[in-house]
Amino acid sequence: MSSTNQYGIETDAMTLQRFVMNEQRKYEGASGELTTLLTSILTAVKAISSAVRMAGLAQLFGIDGKTNVQGEEVKKLDVLSNELMINVLKASYTTCVMVSEENETVIEVETPKRGKYIVTFDPLDGSSNIDCLVSIGTIFGIYKKTTEGDVTDSDILQPGRKMVAAGYALYGSATMIVISLGHGVNGFMLDPNIGEFILTHRNMQIPKKGKVYSINEGYAKKWSKGVSEYVRTRKFPENGKSALGQRYVGSMVADVHRTLLNGGIFMYPATTDAVSGKLRLLYECIPMAYIMEQAGGLATTGTMPILDLQPTRIHQRSPIFLGSKEDVEELISFIEKFDKEPEKKD
Ligand code: AHM
Ligand code: MG
Repeated sequence: MSSTNQYGIETDAMTLQRFVMNEQRKYEGASGELTTLLTSILTAVKAISSAVRMAGLAQLFGIDGKTNVQGEEVKKLDVLSNELMINVLKASYTTCVMVSEENETVIEVETPKRGKYIVTFDPLDGSSNIDCLVSIGTIFGIYKKTTEGDVTDSDILQPGRKMVAAGYALYGSATMIVISLGHGVNGFMLDPNIGEFILTHRNMQIPKKGKVYSINEGYAKKWSKGVSEYVRTRKFPENGKSALGQRYVGSMVADVHRTLLNGGIFMYPATTDAVSGKLRLLYECIPMAYIMEQAGGLATTGTMPILDLQPTRIHQRSPIFLGSKEDVEELISFIEKFDKEPEKKD
């Protein structure tokens, strides 16, 4: 239990760092490497959050390679966020290789600084929303190296079931981290006064069924029959049922976070011109699927759980449907009924 003193100041807050240390002691002894890794991600997230809050004033929107009034080079917010993540992880001595949405190839850590973890991340997701001040986020997934010696493809391309931890940071009306170390999901809000993430959402559970569906309906003509019928019947239900509401931010972190809190379904399906959808398996779909399953929800490609998919390429895409168990099960039944051919993955 946390407590406050007579001035209303929290004197025993459960910070994210303290929470992770407690978890590690419970389940894995006290080697501390994962705690160090997560602490370094927190540092990056705080720096990204600060940059996001200052971005308009610091002229970090939509520019790259330009110089500021001091004649210094200015980096775009997503480039800056990527550098922050890479630098803090390298400096933590906990990571041997990283996969970032911003880098075409894997980022290997030089031998003396290598640790046993593999980190996949999207440093600033929802990039098209940055300049118009809509919520954006950072997504990350953590795996343990499975082989001795040099890093191999089988270390980097592990299915989500092997994941050690995953989470996201949401830069919205507040900055929040939602994380799972494989024993449920917990949410921590950034207290800007003390620069710490404080446990505010303990053991998050997604409602079994929601009242909202979330999809970019601009692509409706390009959906499969199963997805089209599912969405149509949410809007025009039969037997006197109420229609579902529709919400779509266009930032995966914001859409997934709302779905986790309120229930419902988030969908980014395959389309006729993007047969594997848009979202990336390693650093968007798998971490979010991990969080969803840990919170009692489901995440599927439409034909199989996202976490069972064996990745074959670092920037591989996958269709994704995630959210409340009953909503996702209903979607799967529409795909089974109407889409005889399994959807292709790239
Ligand atoms: P990004 O990594 O280039 O930012 O793209 C990913 C984003 C997700 O956050 C979001 O769910 C999706 O793209 C929205 O795409 P669309 O505009 O096609 O609906
Ligand atoms: Mg992205």
